Amino acid sequence: MFDRLVWQSDRMLLDDLVFRLEHYRSPDWNGGDHFRFYKIKELVDQYENFFSRRSDFRAKRVIELGIYDGGSTAFWYELFQPQKHVALDLQDQRDIPYFRRYVESRELGGRIKTYWNTDQADKTRLRTIVETEFESPPDLVIDDASHFYRQTRASFEALFPLLIPGGLYIIEDWAWGHWPEFLVPNHPWAAEDPLTRLAIELLEAAGTSAQLILSMVAYRGFVVVERGPQQLDKASHFNLEDHIIRRPARRQLGLFSRLARKLQRRMGTFANRFRG
Ligand SMILES: C[S@@+](CC[C@H](N)C(=O)[O-])C[C@H]1O[C@@H](n2cnc3c(N)ncnc32)[C@H](O)[C@@H]1O
Repeated sequence: MFDRLVWQSDRMLLDDLVFRLEHYRSPDWNGGDHFRFYKIKELVDQYENFFSRRSDFRAKRVIELGIYDGGSTAFWYELFQPQKHVALDLQDQRDIPYFRRYVESRELGGRIKTYWNTDQADKTRLRTIVETEFESPPDLVIDDASHFYRQTRASFEALFPLLIPGGLYIIEDWAWGHWPEFLVPNHPWAAEDPLTRLAIELLEAAGTSAQLILSMVAYRGFVVVERGPQQLDKASHFNLEDHIIRRPARRQLGLFSRLARKLQRRMGTFANRFRG
């Protein structure tokens, strides 16, 4: 599909579909009706690079977090042609007319489903959606929603255990804490925890056991976490922290050895006194 994409200064075209690039938005638009699309060529090229290395991967059941205008939903649907693509978003709105026409003209009503007014941090709701929409475990999650640590981790904890072994969990824009435009002091996200924190925790979990996370691949624009074969009996109680083994921090190690030395000295004094 990537070779069908045509890039122009302010848009990406896929056959008859028009995706207006939000990053290059200008008032002189002459492209007619369109999706607004929150991705740039550099990011899409990274996806092409990743999936060309994973040409064995097929996504039959997809969950997408963060719909915006539906442009990315159409993009992912066209890429994988899954049996079912379920997308959700916090906004309390409806599908835009261009998106509705896309779905209706291709008779995709049974295969693409959108949930608005749905918070990615609402674990119970996410699990209910998966139960309702999929007869078998999903094989791909793409999180392009809040990009905040707490919410992104909540979705991961709700959905990753439900993926089929070998399934992929993608977190887009994990690296925003390293991009200059986000580092200005009055940026609205200035007080937020960068998503790097979650990426590092996932790396720690991958290092702890290949049963849970079989592999992890990081690009500048996204990170891909591959589900290992581990059975999780209580998937609804999944807590990432329980799957990370860490050596105590150096400061703690120092504290332990100081305490041990103190104890040794005390024992020594006590033994001398006893002898004396
Ligand atoms: C960057 S836009 C998504 C863009 C879209 N995937 C694309 O590539 O065009 C982020 C979307 O996530 C939604 N969002 C933000 N916080 C959310 C949350 N807590 N739960 C679900 N969606 C959220 C926003 O309403 C917005 O539509």
